[in-house]
Amino acid sequence: MRIPLIAGNWKMFKTKTEAAAFAEEFKALYRGTDVQAAICAPFTDLELLVESFRGTGIGVGAQNVHFEDEGAYTGEISVKMLEEIGVDFCIVGHSERRQYFAETDETVNLKIKKLLSGSIRPIMCVGESLEQRDSGVLFDFVKSQLEGGLKGISPEDMKRIVVAYEPIWAIGTSRTAAPEQAEEMCAFIRQTLIEMYGEEVADEVVIQYGGSVKPANATEIMNQDEIDGALVGGASLKAPDFMQIIDF
Ligand code: PGA
Repeated sequence: MRIPLIAGNWKMFKTKTEAAAFAEEFKALYRGTDVQAAICAPFTDLELLVESFRGTGIGVGAQNVHFEDEGAYTGEISVKMLEEIGVDFCIVGHSERRQYFAETDETVNLKIKKLLSGSIRPIMCVGESLEQRDSGVLFDFVKSQLEGGLKGISPEDMKRIVVAYEPIWAIGTSRTAAPEQAEEMCAFIRQTLIEMYGEEVADEVVIQYGGSVKPANATEIMNQDEIDGALVGGASLKAPDFMQIIDF
């Protein structure tokens, strides 16, 4: 049984003071559901959120990590640093990081492996651009991201990875993928995982959709068979909106 994961991705929003205010408001609204809820926040908010959500069942995630244990990597954060804070998840390979910070399938792969050597579950993002969709290479492209990002990862470890399908053209644009488009690609991702890992493993992998998910469209997205959750950007910044999405 896959437990759906609905995770907020705050990106570069919310100071520590703002995060604390969100946490109080969200905890007051939050009722446990069948869905695992989590907030992926800037590094500076993580410790506060872990403390604030302790005992509530609400998870906390980072949005990036470095793949080396430690070293002379100015500005970077290690897996061990996140683990000591008590972080549950870490987004890897978001399209914004691929676009602006030179993230590649190779670094995605190294980061996932380093996370899996410890306790934090990776949320691996894949997804095509509008040009790739329009020119019909969308499936080949997503398949290449999966093959590159998951190279050398064992079947047992694969079960701990969350795959987030985020078509780039639907992120922050109000242009949500139609539920059938999202379902089609999530089904393709599951099929690719079956080819790579077999049915038993692929069946356990949580596959999220992300891209302009909001209270108004959460139900139809979550009702798709192959979609096990959502990665929510803009709409996760307001506690009532995010709660409505979890309550879809
Ligand atoms: P959005 O962002 O919900 O604001 O479109 C989603 C994401 O980038 O994870």
